[in-house]
Amino acid sequence: MEKEVKKLRLDIDGNQVDRPAVWWDEENKILCMIDQTKIPFDVKVHICDTFLDTAQAIKNMIIRGAPSIGAAAAFGLAQAVSEFWNNENFNHNIRSAYEILLSTRPTAVDLKHGLEYIIKTVPLTPENALNQAKRFSKDIAEEGKKIGEIGQNLIKSDMNLLTHCHTGALALVDNGSALAPIIQAWIVNKKRFHVYVDETRPRIQGRITSWELDQYGIDHTVICDSVSGSLMSQRKVDLIIVGADRVAQNGDIANKIGTYNLAVIAHYHNIPFYTAFPRSTFDPTIKTGEDILIEERNQLEVKEIKGYSREYQRQLSISPYSDKTKFFNPSFDVTPHSLIKGYITPEGILEAFELAKKLE
Ligand code: MRU
Repeated sequence: MEKEVKKLRLDIDGNQVDRPAVWWDEENKILCMIDQTKIPFDVKVHICDTFLDTAQAIKNMIIRGAPSIGAAAAFGLAQAVSEFWNNENFNHNIRSAYEILLSTRPTAVDLKHGLEYIIKTVPLTPENALNQAKRFSKDIAEEGKKIGEIGQNLIKSDMNLLTHCHTGALALVDNGSALAPIIQAWIVNKKRFHVYVDETRPRIQGRITSWELDQYGIDHTVICDSVSGSLMSQRKVDLIIVGADRVAQNGDIANKIGTYNLAVIAHYHNIPFYTAFPRSTFDPTIKTGEDILIEERNQLEVKEIKGYSREYQRQLSISPYSDKTKFFNPSFDVTPHSLIKGYITPEGILEAFELAKKLE
């Protein structure tokens, strides 16, 4: 009988290893992360030698998922502290590194929290900054474990669940947010159910969700994002759990584009809609979702798609669109708290009015 969820075992260059999404390599003094753009075909470690490498990796979504981004940013600033140590413009350089890292992805507040955690270190030395980054990262992973244990109570055998984007171990350093209750319920509590996985256009994070669910043998079906409404109307979805990238004081959430559509249809059909996230995703400085800045990404992500085969990856145009055709690619949307039944957090399953008191 499993007492707890085993870590994802990754096959990296033929070696079976347990790895979080991001970690510090003590021996080589480099930041390592699983390259999420290559999953599921390849599990490769991406190396960041400098804070600029780390900023680039966040921007290019080599590492992604709000809490993992936060952890990577914390390590990135710790790298900057070490790079600029003994430099006469230390304070100025650290402030610039902070701004560069902050500008990589604007919506996930975890990024800012990771940076703040490092910048407030007293005294700000390379060793202290690195230790703080490790602590920030470890705390997130532990919160994921609690989210799993708490959230699994919502899941019953024979249910059909639905989830959007990717919220597993790779998105949350380890353990996961919305995926953690699903994995916990299956592996530890031996419940048997089925999960619909939204494909999540345009970056297809559903492929990572499917890959993680596969590692645990969890029964799932990948659907195009437009299928969920019809499934709900046929009463084929009993429970929806999604993640979050920023949660406002009043409980409005920013999450991957398409979340709002899901929540509205779920509300219409009276299907419980939950969000799961660690403390680092709660933003006590903003009152409502209206204050959340939504990242707009490159139009090419809509126009083209990455084609994969075992041998190569290449960008393919989905259609020979004319030069005049425009594309719009907001990466997130805002779901108001009125559509959310509960917030699965390390402090319990909360209601919107409890968030500030319990998470600040
Ligand atoms: O753009 P991404 O892939 O970094 O998006 C973040 C997400 O994975 C989701 O929005 C998720 O639901 C929240 S992060 C666990």
